[in-house]
Amino acid sequence: MEAKLEEIRANLKKYNQEHLLNHYNDLEEAKQKKLLEEIEDIDFELVNNLYKNTKKEIKNENDKITPMEYLDKYKLNEKYKYYENIGKKLIKEGKLAAVTMAGGQGTRLGHNGPKGTYDIGLDSHKSLFELLCDGLKEEGKKYGVTIPWFIMTSRENNKDTEEFFEKHKNFGYQKGKNLFFFIQGELPMIDTEGKILIGEDGLVKKAADGHGGIYESLVKSKMTEKMRQLGVEWVFIGGVDNCLVKMVDPVLMGIAVDKKVTVACKSVVKANPHEKVGVFCKRNGRPNVIEYTEITTEMAEATDENGELLYGESHILCNLFSVEAIERMGANPLPYHIAYKKAKYIDKDGNLVVPDSPNAYKFEAFLFDAFGEVDDMAVLRVKREEEFAPVKNADSVGVDCPKTARELYKKFYKLD
Ligand code: UD1
Repeated sequence: MEAKLEEIRANLKKYNQEHLLNHYNDLEEAKQKKLLEEIEDIDFELVNNLYKNTKKEIKNENDKITPMEYLDKYKLNEKYKYYENIGKKLIKEGKLAAVTMAGGQGTRLGHNGPKGTYDIGLDSHKSLFELLCDGLKEEGKKYGVTIPWFIMTSRENNKDTEEFFEKHKNFGYQKGKNLFFFIQGELPMIDTEGKILIGEDGLVKKAADGHGGIYESLVKSKMTEKMRQLGVEWVFIGGVDNCLVKMVDPVLMGIAVDKKVTVACKSVVKANPHEKVGVFCKRNGRPNVIEYTEITTEMAEATDENGELLYGESHILCNLFSVEAIERMGANPLPYHIAYKKAKYIDKDGNLVVPDSPNAYKFEAFLFDAFGEVDDMAVLRVKREEEFAPVKNADSVGVDCPKTARELYKKFYKLD
């Protein structure tokens, strides 16, 4: 143990992170062991590079951004049935699985727990998880299959999520047979000096590494292997926070097959130039999404000759991938986007610091940064009122909140 400790100490010195062991002696034995394991797991070169990136502004201004072509689901005419039949056949053959990204907490909603457990206030008081599951089961029934469901959780909410499912008898699904949980990756949080933080529990302070880690996590946790065993060829990946998400769409699948693309995504027309959604585009000729935090005003407001927004196809986190595309995307690291956040930590004197303004960097990869891995993909414009009712903010914000989502949900399902 002593030798190992010394070895770790030497490595920490090399990377200027010796403070991680400052309070090692105050920890109980099990925690000491855990801390050492965590430190051994850290990729210090990566952390160094991430810190360096916080000092330079990432500029993509030399990238050539152009609009992305799309198909409108309701202007496909006779092709609609053609695509639909291709997709229907695949679904009946059990070739589709669904993945829900549910690594987030409901913090912005003022909800204490995994976001998927949030009740949007319908008369049924169903959680987001149950609403999503209802849709999946209903669709499965139409095709005589159970669509396998994979849930991505985070270390922070995995236990609570699995317990919530158990409490609700997995909503009729069977864990290990057609319901699977896997945990997304994490990265240490660092302060403005590049020092890794120690959290309240005396261990390394980590944060979820963004949904861009999903490809790697699906592969590492052997979920893609499981999909192949189940005969799955196509995987719909969506967020947990859209209560109208349509995870089973034969038309989208038919288009992917017909166009011979391995990624097909749904879009809705941007409600206004400054709506907080990413938009599809081509970056240097390859598929991409410009996130709402990164688009220029000029680009957001640009229109074509018909007065339509040039970058108006919103990314609604409704994306279909072939299993092979997931594996390919999981093999290459994605860039990390930097978020400056408030993070409680234990300082060098052993005191808990509770900041009232941002003090630490968190690093997140975005799932759509992997889109450039494929030469081409299809974008299908669908109707907002049928497929997009996000629950992101508290009602006081007035948009993308439980109230708006509830209204859209009730209207679509004719509940009033
Ligand atoms: C997201 C999209 C944006 C899109 C909008 C549509 C990103 C970066 N941007 O914005 O392009 O137009 O939704 O509603 O996603 N999640 C995890 N683990 C993570 C991070 C997120 O599972 O580490 C899940 C969340 O639980 C949620 C989804 O990913 O289901 C979206 O994440 P969120 O951070 O809320 O993204 P938005 O800023 O809303």
